[in-house]
Amino acid sequence: MSVAHTGRPAEGRRFSLLSLFEAMATPHQLDRYLELVTPMVTVRDLRAEVALVRRSTADTVTLTLRPTRQWRGFRAGQFVQVGVVIDGVRHTRCYSPANAQSSTDGHVELTIKAHPDGLVSQYLHAQARPGLVLDLSQAAGEFTLPSPRPRRLLLVSGGSGITPVLSMLRTLVDEEHVGSITFLHYAYTENDVAYLDELRALADANANVSLVLAYTDQEAGGHLHGFFGLEHLDAVAPWYADAETFLCGPPGLMRGVREVYRELGIEDRLHTEEFAPAAASAEGEAGGAVSFTASGITADNSGATLLEQAEAAGLHPEYGCRMGICFSCTTVKTSGCTRNVRTGDTDTDPDKAIQLCVSVPMGDVALDI
Ligand SMILES: Cc1cc2nc3c(=O)[nH]c(=O)nc-3n(C[C@H](O)[C@H](O)[C@H](O)COP(=O)(O)OP(=O)(O)OC[C@H]3O[C@@H](n4cnc5c(N)ncnc54)[C@H](O)[C@@H]3O)c2cc1C
Ligand code: FES
Repeated sequence: MSVAHTGRPAEGRRFSLLSLFEAMATPHQLDRYLELVTPMVTVRDLRAEVALVRRSTADTVTLTLRPTRQWRGFRAGQFVQVGVVIDGVRHTRCYSPANAQSSTDGHVELTIKAHPDGLVSQYLHAQARPGLVLDLSQAAGEFTLPSPRPRRLLLVSGGSGITPVLSMLRTLVDEEHVGSITFLHYAYTENDVAYLDELRALADANANVSLVLAYTDQEAGGHLHGFFGLEHLDAVAPWYADAETFLCGPPGLMRGVREVYRELGIEDRLHTEEFAPAAASAEGEAGGAVSFTASGITADNSGATLLEQAEAAGLHPEYGCRMGICFSCTTVKTSGCTRNVRTGDTDTDPDKAIQLCVSVPMGDVALDI
């Protein structure tokens, strides 16, 4: 009788050896031991080493990361989660690669703005050096270019929101896309524009790419001045109704563009990515109590999100985006009813994993933190 071998024996042996090593390493995974010796050699974990550090404006830092072999690449516009240990505590934040998805070197380029009170962004801005090893997630997110590519594209960004749309621009140029692309970027002044030289070079080298810079705090010839409005849209892309617009920037810019598109009745042509929650998030009803059972703390329910209530109670749950997209804050709710402020869904199941940053309690709730 013949036996058909569908698997690959060498790989099977490697897998059982790996399982054996992992079993021997219990309760810690093998990667926990390897990281003490050589953190870039991992069995399962995806990590990245900082290969290059550049500072193109006073408050931004650009990191070129070399990921471990588990990295599966990204699509322009997506984001990754970066984990970094600060004072012994691991913190995770989302960052959008700025390089082209077609980059062949396998690197990931992140440009991070140091927020005045920001923990991770300040740390990376001040401390990132070649050789620093960071945790990395696979890329995620739906803010991506459609295929086939639209004939006309308007890419709008403000401040650090430049990263996902620059990745789109670089990708389209790499692909030799022939459709019209207008890149409209908002900054306080010219000194605050990351990638200024490259943006100018891309526009100079590609007849279909038009670069428009808008400064809110500087009047300069050849540039727009002030905040986004219909007059800016008419001036830079009079064909906007026939284009797909991709937008990423601070909450004020996002609000302004959304309002104009809503008034024009072309919201379906607007694709957006947020870096920060748009508004203060207290949306629940106060009443009852929130118990953080693992910490032995109980506090009155203020109606704010459970992440904010945990922080107000002196706890430090892990978080990344604070708006329901990265799942870093997922925690088990042991009892009570919560409402997801993004979807409006209520949840009454016990022992259920919920996202603290977008869940508000409806009365008494107990969490396993
Ligand atoms: C999908 C996604 C992609 C992102 N991509 C990038 C990127 O490419 N480059 C980049 O610089 N940032 C990006 N961010 C923002 C980034 O994840 C962090 O929020 C930012 O670096 C601040 O983190 P922090 O630890 O320094 O601040 P924290 O210590 O978490 O916060 C400190 C204070 O700053 C406020 N704050 C936090 N984030 C912002 C923000 N984005 N804008 C204004 N105020 C804020 C907080 O409310 C708090 O008051 C992205 C966020 C998301 C959700
Ligand atoms: S912090 Fe990202 S989902 Fe809650």
